Amino acid sequence: MKITCVINGTLRVLDARPLDRLLDILRNLGLTGAKEGCGEGECGACAVLLDGELVNSCMVPAIQVHGRTVLTAEGLGAPENPDILQKAFLEEGAVQCGFCIPGMVMASRALLARIPHPDRPAIRTGLAGNLCRCTGYEKIIRAVEKAAGMGYGEGIPPFAGPVCDYPPEFSDEERKSFFQPSSIAEAMEIRAEYGDEITFLAGTTDFFPDLKNGKVEVKKVLDLSRLEELRAITRKDGKLFVGACASDSMIMEHPDVLSLFPALARAAELSGARAVQNRATLGGNLASASGAADLPVPLLVLGASVILGSLRGERLVPIEEFFAGYRQTVLKNDEMLLGVSLSIPPATLRQAFYKRGSRAALTLSRISVACSAVLEEGTLKDVRIAAGSMSAFPVRLPETEKSLSGKRLSAELADDAADSASREINPRKSGEFRKTVTGNLVRKFLLSLLQN
Ligand SMILES: Cc1cc2nc3c(=O)[nH]c(=O)nc-3n(C[C@H](O)[C@H](O)[C@H](O)COP(=O)(O)OP(=O)(O)OC[C@H]3O[C@@H](n4cnc5c(N)ncnc54)[C@H](O)[C@@H]3O)c2cc1C
Ligand code: FES
Ligand code: FES
Repeated sequence: MKITCVINGTLRVLDARPLDRLLDILRNLGLTGAKEGCGEGECGACAVLLDGELVNSCMVPAIQVHGRTVLTAEGLGAPENPDILQKAFLEEGAVQCGFCIPGMVMASRALLARIPHPDRPAIRTGLAGNLCRCTGYEKIIRAVEKAAGMGYGEGIPPFAGPVCDYPPEFSDEERKSFFQPSSIAEAMEIRAEYGDEITFLAGTTDFFPDLKNGKVEVKKVLDLSRLEELRAITRKDGKLFVGACASDSMIMEHPDVLSLFPALARAAELSGARAVQNRATLGGNLASASGAADLPVPLLVLGASVILGSLRGERLVPIEEFFAGYRQTVLKNDEMLLGVSLSIPPATLRQAFYKRGSRAALTLSRISVACSAVLEEGTLKDVRIAAGSMSAFPVRLPETEKSLSGKRLSAELADDAADSASREINPRKSGEFRKTVTGNLVRKFLLSLLQN
């Protein structure tokens, strides 16, 4: 295929295969700043900016680079003429072996563009997806502080818009297997024609690791990246619609999600790190149906319905009925996921999402818990509790919910609920640990209601 894009300020028309990784495209052009570390989104060595947003270039396919603007470390400044940020890295002694540094610099630039004067926790969060084997983190943080102090973030121009609005040019052979529809109706026609042969490309953060690990066989590819409607988050008639292609970053920063569904915003905020969050979508998270997926857990307690669409029309499936087994859903082979619908909750609904993994950031959940309840004059109502990462898919804990609804909240009741939740879950592995922590998280939620 031929793709048109701007790389470091230069318009390029490139020959590529649709699933070529942006990382390989860049390195073949001699732009070797972006490095291959893990090749699956875990290390940030390959981080670049795509339309101004931080992405891991090892997980971006060529088909999604068409029409877009790429910035790499080489586009900031040359060794003889580094920009303010690169200079700050040098002056603070942040560069040791240097392997992680181009990715670190790009993550820092993305952070300073969003938050020109971040505090230390914000810097740590902004760089959480970038690993440094030489453990030079303290000096790296100081370099970011230095560049921020020099007004680097304020000088970054906003994203200027798409490079072109025409589709990429596929070869005759590619046209049989790669589709990039510009409307949902067109996407549904393609899905109806090829059924199970279709692999959807959304943010490709599950797709590329699966491809690398031989878990996906690619026959026909339906790229959703031109379907702007699927990225929408809109409030209408007492409902909030979150489109299937809304990214974690969009979800965690959207004012309606933050004010009405903070548990969902929190789950998106705790999923991956910034480069993953900018790409990972709600639809991909649900359709992958991983037992460790974070977004379904709050969606279970918030009473979400999944909207599935096909040429036959749309159907709404309560999220409890969406998962059918390990990595299985009720999605039929002519359907695609359009988004989720959430009823606007009463202002008195309290909600929380907690997650525990093997490290503080960029970690898959080993345990996740979402809770919601109304506390009315000391009495609990409408209690819902869900747990993830225990079994093939996340589940509600109806026994524990029942034991709480209509009861007067007290520290003793919170202890009983913790015991009940521990008994009710049935983890596949690390049983005692998961049971104890799940109980503790349920107690934590209830005590937080008491304290407020
Ligand atoms: C480093 C790293 C860290 C991660 N951390 C977390 C984490 O903390 N929590 C978490 O939950 N996940 C995590 N993930 C997993 C992943 O980011 C999420 O599951 C993400 O939401 C997947 O969305 P995507 O858009 O990237 O999906 P893609 O990879 O594009 O697609 C995944 C699957 O969904 C299907 N699909 C996508 N969209 C649709 C649609 N609209 N209709 C039908 N089928 C569709 C595709 O066919 C494919 O089978 C992580 C991944 C990486 C690489
Ligand atoms: S190479 Fe590790 S995130 Fe891309
Ligand atoms: S400087 Fe060596 S990996 Fe970071």
